[in-house]
Amino acid sequence: MTTKTRDKASELARGAGGPALAYLPGFGNHFATEALPGALPSGQNSPQRCPYGLYAEQLSGTAFTAPRAANRRTWLYRIRPGAVHRPFRRVDAGRFSSDFGEVAATPNQLRWDPFPIPSAPTDFVDGLATMAGNGGPEAQSGCGIHLYAANRPMADRYFYDADGELLIVPQQGRLRIATELGVLEAEPQEIAVVPRGVRFRVELPDGAARGYVCENFGSPFRLPDLGPIGSNGLANPRDFLTPVAAYEDQEGRCELVAKFMGGLWAAEMDHSPLDVVAWHGNHVPYKYDLRLFNTIGSISYDHPDPSIFLVLQSVSDTPGVDNVDFVIFPPRWLVMQHTFRPPWYHRNIAGEFMGLVHGVYDAKAGGFLPGGASLHNCMTGHGPDAETFEKASRADLSRPDVIGDTMAFMFETRLAIRPTRYALECAELQADYYQCWQGLKKHFDPSKP
Ligand SMILES: [Fe+2]
Repeated sequence: MTTKTRDKASELARGAGGPALAYLPGFGNHFATEALPGALPSGQNSPQRCPYGLYAEQLSGTAFTAPRAANRRTWLYRIRPGAVHRPFRRVDAGRFSSDFGEVAATPNQLRWDPFPIPSAPTDFVDGLATMAGNGGPEAQSGCGIHLYAANRPMADRYFYDADGELLIVPQQGRLRIATELGVLEAEPQEIAVVPRGVRFRVELPDGAARGYVCENFGSPFRLPDLGPIGSNGLANPRDFLTPVAAYEDQEGRCELVAKFMGGLWAAEMDHSPLDVVAWHGNHVPYKYDLRLFNTIGSISYDHPDPSIFLVLQSVSDTPGVDNVDFVIFPPRWLVMQHTFRPPWYHRNIAGEFMGLVHGVYDAKAGGFLPGGASLHNCMTGHGPDAETFEKASRADLSRPDVIGDTMAFMFETRLAIRPTRYALECAELQADYYQCWQGLKKHFDPSKP
């Protein structure tokens, strides 16, 4: 981590040229924040009359009786309750779906070129294209994996996802996410998480934006246990930032779009749904700067498993077997001796969808570009390409490999990942990806141990 990134974090996220945004630090905290003094009722959640004539509304993100450590809910004090809207009607969802059975899942290694920014006017929701997924909203397990590419802000249009929590990974251009609970801004190499049900609008301070989204149908993302690592390391709780309360008292026609049971629905409203003046709770949006990740690795020989790079996990009902893991491959030093330093060749039970936010990924010499993606499914063999293998097998290990200026990530799931028809038929799919391993030579010689 550089001084620059730490300075940046301590600034508490001021957008370049824009007004400073205020955040509350900490992961999983029970926060309390009000945009007007005294707007939060004291000592109780549902007084007979709320301050400023506000309505009280509870938004629960877990079952009421979930264990305390897993329980998430937020109390909202708002100008009108969330129930005030016209009826929803089903609308065309474009390429955004939860239909993961439309084509046969494939064991092939898959990789995609970067996806273009659209030329037609496209906002964040219209710009979502589903690449793959598993499970579904009905089962409340699995995830949808989407790309977004947009060139205009959502205007008079708001969105919420009843099917899952959204982990947003910007790759190009900042996102300004105005939510019911406040405003947060995320730039490439940061992530933003919007919990299930929270209404928001996305603006594009840089005019265009592209990135990745994991729609987590399962239990909300949490920080992993650290075991023998101890009480510090990996993603540290204090680096997660949740916005302070901010509200819009805005009348006028607008549209509320909902993702519900895999489909998109739209309802007319006559006021902004971002009208929460104060709130308290822990079902909250947050952002995190991936450059602050405290990367841990081997200082003797061999690699730990890549679970050492785990940022956030959605746990399943089976201990140790996660619904979705969000893993990063950040800048780091490789110092292991008598060791093949790039990732080893492997076939895993997990499904691995990777993206590249920035720089070069150390297991591939070319072809995996920022804004592109790859998918290696359950038991599909993969690992360094031939060029990387030859180079790393002869590398001088007396010196560290300094891997700088890069940020790759993986959505890793316990279930196999099913690509959509769009993912398998789009022009960006690289038909020749398998070739990167075909140059791996036979070195075996039974006479030379
Ligand atoms: Fe892998």
